[in-house]
Amino acid sequence: MNDTSPTRAEREARLEGMGCSRRRTEDARFIQGKGNYVDDLKLPGMLFGDFVRSPYAHARIKKIDVSKAAALPGVKAVLTANELKPVKLDWMPTLAGDVQAVLAGDKVLFQNQEVAFVIAEDRYIAADAVELVEVEYEDLPVVIDPFKAMDQNAPVLREDLKGKTEGAHGKRKHWNHIFNWEIGDQGATDAALNAAEVKIKELISYQRVHPSPLETCACVASMDKVRGELTVWGTFQAPHVVRTVAALLSGITEQKIHVIAPDIGGGFGNKVGVYPGYVCSIVGSIVLGVPIKWVEDRIENLTATAFARDYHMTTELAATKDGRITGLKVHVLADHGAFDACADPSKWPAGFFNIVTGSYDIPAAYVSVDGVYTNKAPGGVAYRCSFRVTEAAYCIERAIDVLAKKLKMDPAELRLKNLIRAEQFPYKSALGWEYDSGNYHVAMRKAMDAVGYSKLREEQRQKREAFKRGETRELMGIGVAFFTEIVGAGPTKNCDILGIGMFDSCEIRVHPTGAVIARLGTKSQGQGHETTYGQIIATELGIPADSINIEEGNTDTAPYGLGTYGSRSTPVSGAATAVAARKIKAKAQKIAAHLLEVAEGDLEWDIDGFRVKGLPERTKSMKEIAWAAYNNVPPGMEHGLEAVNYYDPPNMTFPFGAYICVCDVDADTGYTKIRRFYALDDCGTRINPMIIEGQVHGGLTEAFGIAMGQEIKYDETGNVVTGTFMDYFMPTAVETPVWETDFTVTPSPHHPIGAKGVGESPNVGGVPAFSNAVNDAFGHLDIGHIQMPHDGWRTWLAAKQAGLHK
Ligand code: CDP
Repeated sequence: MNDTSPTRAEREARLEGMGCSRRRTEDARFIQGKGNYVDDLKLPGMLFGDFVRSPYAHARIKKIDVSKAAALPGVKAVLTANELKPVKLDWMPTLAGDVQAVLAGDKVLFQNQEVAFVIAEDRYIAADAVELVEVEYEDLPVVIDPFKAMDQNAPVLREDLKGKTEGAHGKRKHWNHIFNWEIGDQGATDAALNAAEVKIKELISYQRVHPSPLETCACVASMDKVRGELTVWGTFQAPHVVRTVAALLSGITEQKIHVIAPDIGGGFGNKVGVYPGYVCSIVGSIVLGVPIKWVEDRIENLTATAFARDYHMTTELAATKDGRITGLKVHVLADHGAFDACADPSKWPAGFFNIVTGSYDIPAAYVSVDGVYTNKAPGGVAYRCSFRVTEAAYCIERAIDVLAKKLKMDPAELRLKNLIRAEQFPYKSALGWEYDSGNYHVAMRKAMDAVGYSKLREEQRQKREAFKRGETRELMGIGVAFFTEIVGAGPTKNCDILGIGMFDSCEIRVHPTGAVIARLGTKSQGQGHETTYGQIIATELGIPADSINIEEGNTDTAPYGLGTYGSRSTPVSGAATAVAARKIKAKAQKIAAHLLEVAEGDLEWDIDGFRVKGLPERTKSMKEIAWAAYNNVPPGMEHGLEAVNYYDPPNMTFPFGAYICVCDVDADTGYTKIRRFYALDDCGTRINPMIIEGQVHGGLTEAFGIAMGQEIKYDETGNVVTGTFMDYFMPTAVETPVWETDFTVTPSPHHPIGAKGVGESPNVGGVPAFSNAVNDAFGHLDIGHIQMPHDGWRTWLAAKQAGLHK
């Protein structure tokens, strides 16, 4: 090696591979306003669609008169259910095995349900025409409270299901019942509860919230009648699934449908499903032969597209006097709204809620979930969490604190006592999961040391004394949460969407100059995939990340994939990327052996190429090998350097974390100030530490929003009273606390690079940490579990109930 040759460290640094805080490549266009979102798309002759929506939550439609709207200059068509019926598109299947009205025919089932679709020359004419559509309604009694949905005198909501005693997931108990799902050993759990020295029972509700991405849902459908081909650009988290659904619904063969998801401004689960806006735009374009654009406004997004949570979890814990948990029993009442449009893998009507035993070694557990219809918008998506996992984490983490209060034990100590021990991994939970890896005690102790936990408790004790003496009106709360996520759906043997197994994919092509294009079945919505997938390939193939282009979202070019949600990109497509790269590397090794005239086994990998063992000066870099792949391959070998992998994960990955929140509650105003928030995450091998930190900041901010104020609220007649950002809490930089992040690294043993997902962990762990902190502020007082969201009003009421107001 001469003096000017780069050192090994320099060669490695030049790759910007895994472990490097590489700057986000996509930001070059985002921060200059050069992103390409659906609403940026302008096509010749394009028309605009807008919906007539129901003002009622439950009403019969007596008559729809579109004549005035149709006569407005600039209006090209008005669709109602009558126009969709002949092409059998007035109803569409949901991901959960139910059907959903595309346009309401006989009756409406929630406020702002789609009733007619106006197509006009521009958005303003379409909006004016919407006002001219006359709909005669006869209002019907509404069901808003899920606890009343199965009353004997409850109105029948889904008349289309009349007489159907079997649903997609078994027997229906009532006309408003959707499914019952149970798992675990009921007998053993009841026995543990009966024998318990101490037990708690608490209704822990997770309110209805909405993912509310910055960009609302949108699409442009363009039917080329000459070629018989349909192109749909849309805000799709799972473009291939949309193409398959479009083929099944429209009868157009799948190769003639092109689905393109351009840049997406946040998804958080909201952009997984198929919405009436997509179907109506496609039908409009097929009928009129011109492109149709549909873009939701904010009120439509908040009130009509997929909500999240609305889970009401009656939770029982059994324990010994010294705090050993012996059993967990949960009954969930799940409010799914008017149609079951939950976005879960087909066989999992309650998602992965059976992760509810959390991070604890609980010998007996049983869960039963009942889904019910109400007069609310459909949905039930995983808003920045794996399927129903934030609900499960909130349930167990609140229950642990309730138990700690009853036992008069410190909640962190109670956790340490029951956490699964390192030597128990892989750990089989009482509800059936095999946790792949974890080192929980180390993480918990690191978190406690970092915040000075025992000092904080001492400060809290002193503050409580000062409060009693009347020297302060502030209550200090310390919220601890230890969570386990379950991400990377999933093994195809038990996870599918509409019958398609939940694998994911990556195709890599190395060009002659050593530059690379890689295409994947996932779709970034802001998570930085263009940056991080490139880093995996850079390390695996020894090619600088800057020479690698990552492409997602075009069904014509990307290999089939199930999309991005539930933090599955890294666990599934990240693995596919590594495996595809390794296939290329194996071929590259053969080419290198041919070029160096040695046996393959005489070579070893060295950062960015192969070298002959024992002769470090005899090397072939990947750049040289790439060139040779196109002109000098071993006899009998095909030219080219590319590979594809469809990865079927053997198991989920199980990221985990320890979060601690410190807050001060003003007893007189109910205002809660978050003084400190510490988040330790373990997502296994870290691909890009800076992106991980950004993901944690974003997720914590959303968790803060949910825990401290967000709720999609309905009045008793079914009006949504939180349909704008004036009423629905959206934290800005002003309200958002400062985050402290930290990590441990426990690689996943079955993932090719040991990585687990991370994007959703902070939502899963953050919500219970905030809620536990607010509840803990009242921990010394005689007051039960305080429900979320912890807005000023609710917290003020808690202070009043605790007798703190004169
Ligand atoms: O599926 P989604 O992209 O939403 O979630 P994810 O797999 O948790 O990844 C979110 C972002 O964090 C991606 O850019 C990942 O590449 C990055 N990440 C990472 O750098 N290291 C990990 N161990 C996990 C994720």
